[in-house]
Amino acid sequence: MHTITLIPGDGIGPEITRAVQDIFAAAQVPVQWEEQNAGQTTYDQSGELIPQALLESLERNCVALKGPITTPVGKGFRSINVTLRQKYDLYQNLRPAKTTEGVPTRYSGVDIVLFRENTEGLYSGLEVYDEPRGIADSFNRISVEGSRKICRAAFAYAAKHGRKKVTLAHKANILKMAGKLMLDAALEASREFPQIQFEDKIIDNMCMQLVTKPEQFDVIVTTNLFGDILSDLCAGLVGGLGVVAGANIGDNMAIFEAVHGSAPDIAGKGIANPTALLRSALLMLEHLGEKEYAARIETALNETLRHKEQCTGDLGGPATTQQFAQNVINNLR
Ligand code: NAI
Ligand code: MG
Repeated sequence: MHTITLIPGDGIGPEITRAVQDIFAAAQVPVQWEEQNAGQTTYDQSGELIPQALLESLERNCVALKGPITTPVGKGFRSINVTLRQKYDLYQNLRPAKTTEGVPTRYSGVDIVLFRENTEGLYSGLEVYDEPRGIADSFNRISVEGSRKICRAAFAYAAKHGRKKVTLAHKANILKMAGKLMLDAALEASREFPQIQFEDKIIDNMCMQLVTKPEQFDVIVTTNLFGDILSDLCAGLVGGLGVVAGANIGDNMAIFEAVHGSAPDIAGKGIANPTALLRSALLMLEHLGEKEYAARIETALNETLRHKEQCTGDLGGPATTQQFAQNVINNLR
């Protein structure tokens, strides 16, 4: 039995986490949930964005499933996601994007796994504003160590999952120092995994290639901001943010979460699509070594997605969140 920290989150978070819990219970997945919230909800109740009890739970269990969190807009509020990633050195942001039968998209045959560096780059929080001169500087901090870790993780993943190619997306032609560190790190990792093909592409060309011929890509590795943008682009190739999973992984902890936000426009209506969070939860099962449970639920999910009448509104169907979850449960074999 695995104990998992469950962070329901804000907005549609509680609705979609409930759906995942129901599906896991029906499939008798050997997990028990330890619920600890964070975000707007806890802030309104207790004045704490990230309660200490949540941090203790994370440190005890080392694995979490997290719903989307609303970061209150205003001075002094740092994104909870960025905070957790940096505090626990969750340096890999894993974002798979695969076309699935039944999910509307312009493309077919896309099967990309993106590794985004998750703690450095333009997200390092190093900014200064020189008010008299009206100039803001945001530092794109890249370390040799951080670059090596993310590149090595991408190649190790490719080797472990029988993937053939790793593509580095970068801007080393302009970022002569920061860009080059990442390029050197990728070359170094590629020498360690000679069976995996390696190529590098300049980020702007990469975007063009991704929207014209996405089937050519396999595993992609890149820095934090490029990864943020590319991962949404990749989500768009396979049906949008409602269907893609995400994971923040470090050497000692992993937090699994959907890529989308708390969707305040539909929160409380019971119509959100739980697919993205469910797929994140399936990544979590693989991480825990529970591949058979993950495969069984994935088959049921894909069966559900093939039938529009079993799907939620964002996919053109009539189902509520709870009905969708029940359809997945009915499709368990
Ligand atoms: P959003 O992803 O919440 O919503 C964008 C659009 O997609 C909305 O129309 C929404 O209804 C729809 N949508 C999103 N998820 C859906 C689902 N599962 N099923 C059906 N439709 C879905 O992005 P937005 O509006 O920019 O952000 C809202 C809040 O979420 C903000 O406070 C933001 O900071 C936070 N956020 C949190 C993230 C996280 O915790 N990982 C990630 C992104 C945003
Ligand atoms: Mg993003």
